[in-house]
Amino acid sequence: MSAKILDGKAIANEMREELKHRVAELRGQGVIPGLGVVLVGDDPASRSYVTAKEKACEKIGIHSDEHRLPAEAGREQILGIVDQYNNDARIHGILVQLPLPDASMETEVIMAVRPEKDVDGFHPVNIGRMIMGQRAFLPCTPHGILHILKRSNIPVKGAHVVIVGRSNIVGRPLANLLTRKDDMGNATVTMCHTATRELANFTRQADIVVAAAGRPKTITADMIREGAVVIDVGVNRVDDADAPKGYRLVGDVDYESVREKASAITPVPGGVGPMTITMLLYNTVQSAQRTGARAE
Ligand code: GUN
Repeated sequence: MSAKILDGKAIANEMREELKHRVAELRGQGVIPGLGVVLVGDDPASRSYVTAKEKACEKIGIHSDEHRLPAEAGREQILGIVDQYNNDARIHGILVQLPLPDASMETEVIMAVRPEKDVDGFHPVNIGRMIMGQRAFLPCTPHGILHILKRSNIPVKGAHVVIVGRSNIVGRPLANLLTRKDDMGNATVTMCHTATRELANFTRQADIVVAAAGRPKTITADMIREGAVVIDVGVNRVDDADAPKGYRLVGDVDYESVREKASAITPVPGGVGPMTITMLLYNTVQSAQRTGARAE
């Protein structure tokens, strides 16, 4: 079997086209959706993510404002900018790119963002609301994965999904969303992590495997059953002297071997990545819509 390629880029473009219309409507009502971006330090991957997010905003008519700070920036400086965005009526969403150079500041910075502007869905209020099934900004990568599955007509209800990776950004929220009692949930989820013994014993039982471990070749062909659906969340830079930039991006899945056994697979790049950015746009537009409604 050669797997169907789940084209995240195409699905993302479809959704961005829909969002572009919603932005035009909002602009017609005098509301310009705005995103405030904070980037601390000069990590090349973070820089390229932020640039991609800003370009995507511009393309659909979202205004983006950016503060780039040096790696040595202190907590007062970072919190000062967050506070400025919190109180700026033109800014409907705030994104602080993670990881911060000083990881010990992350919790405080995440908690400083007003939950109504937390378009990353990282604030404990949004996480709590999500878990309780209340209206909340959903974290972008898990939400994007749900839309890839939905728009590719892959049934999730009753499926056994094995998630490899327990991060706050992907694994944990995805497990929660997939078990919700709604049309994108109702799955049975197994969460695996670095302390899981015999990982392959779990992944081989999965209808859908989600690889979010942050390590290349975490999932190889022998670890999945014939016909499984494989979602690759990994974005790893590996040195490649033949590539124009001297590196290439690979996921967490051994793509070449796994695609021969899976029924469907997301590529890297062009799978989950574009959907993550799309859901950030989605949350920002939603925030602008809510604010507009409050102002009326
Ligand atoms: N770093 C990796 N993924 C993300 C994301 O979705 N949002 C933010 N703010 N930082 C990230």
